Amino acid sequence: MTTLQAPKRDFVSMADLDAPALLKLLERAAQLKAQPRGDLLAGKTLALVFEKPSLRTRLSFDVAMAQQGGRALYLSPAEVGLGQREPPRDVARVISRMVDAVALRTHEDEKLAEFARYASVPVINALSEGEHPCQCLADLLTIRERKGRFAGLRLAYIGDGNNVANSLLIGGATVGLDVTIAAPEGYAPPAAVLAIAERRARESGGAVRVVSRPEEAAEGADILYTDVWTSMGQEQEAAVRRQAFAGFSITRRLLARAAPDAIVMHDLPAHRGEEIEDDVIEGPQSVVFDQAENRLHAQKALLVALLSRA
Ligand code: CP
Repeated sequence: MTTLQAPKRDFVSMADLDAPALLKLLERAAQLKAQPRGDLLAGKTLALVFEKPSLRTRLSFDVAMAQQGGRALYLSPAEVGLGQREPPRDVARVISRMVDAVALRTHEDEKLAEFARYASVPVINALSEGEHPCQCLADLLTIRERKGRFAGLRLAYIGDGNNVANSLLIGGATVGLDVTIAAPEGYAPPAAVLAIAERRARESGGAVRVVSRPEEAAEGADILYTDVWTSMGQEQEAAVRRQAFAGFSITRRLLARAAPDAIVMHDLPAHRGEEIEDDVIEGPQSVVFDQAENRLHAQKALLVALLSRA
């Protein structure tokens, strides 16, 4: 069984957690949600090194540390200049001398990998081009709460095969979900991610599929999930992407194809009228704000696993 404890474990991908470790972490997150305050992270400091904007990730890490007696320090791109003012390997070694863990939000996965290689404290991927594993922890916690199980559930992800989709594929397959990605040609998740997810699905009894029609994915699904068509850093592609993703929206009509008790998920921020209709995100099947809240509980459990012996 993979654990996240000493000597030093990083959390850069959902592949870093096998099924027992992931299920244990989700159980701990549920416990911490019921009893949020304590001293499990007393005396610990988390550095937040962010090269991109954030509401949920920054806030949830900060509050998670505070509620368990620790502290978080936010370091802005202008202060750190990762890769410009100073190479990632130097920043990683300096920060490691002063804090207990680092949450890094960056563009390139190579930068994250270099940072993790040189850091002597745990490094958490707070979003990179390749993955958004912290979001996936909160997503799985939300599904667990709403559905009470993973096995046999069908998750349909509609849209861009991006970092959120990649983490969902690996994490979902690990816990036994049947994950279908509906993406336009050229926007499917990378083959390497699909290969990991397929391996995990074979072990868990889950399934992984990529299709080109949103209707095919949504038919009978228990969970409909989407994300923005244009992620941070892709703004110059926005017009091309709007064309490519036309029809890849969660609309009321698409939702009607899903199971009657299907839930609708989005990691936020959302572009209403593009990847999701306003009526759907505001509707009774939407659980998007549960997902946002669960960032706090899931990441707190992650920090406890990485930094505490409890
Ligand atoms: N979902 C998510 O990661 O939100 P932020 O970009 O606001 O952190």
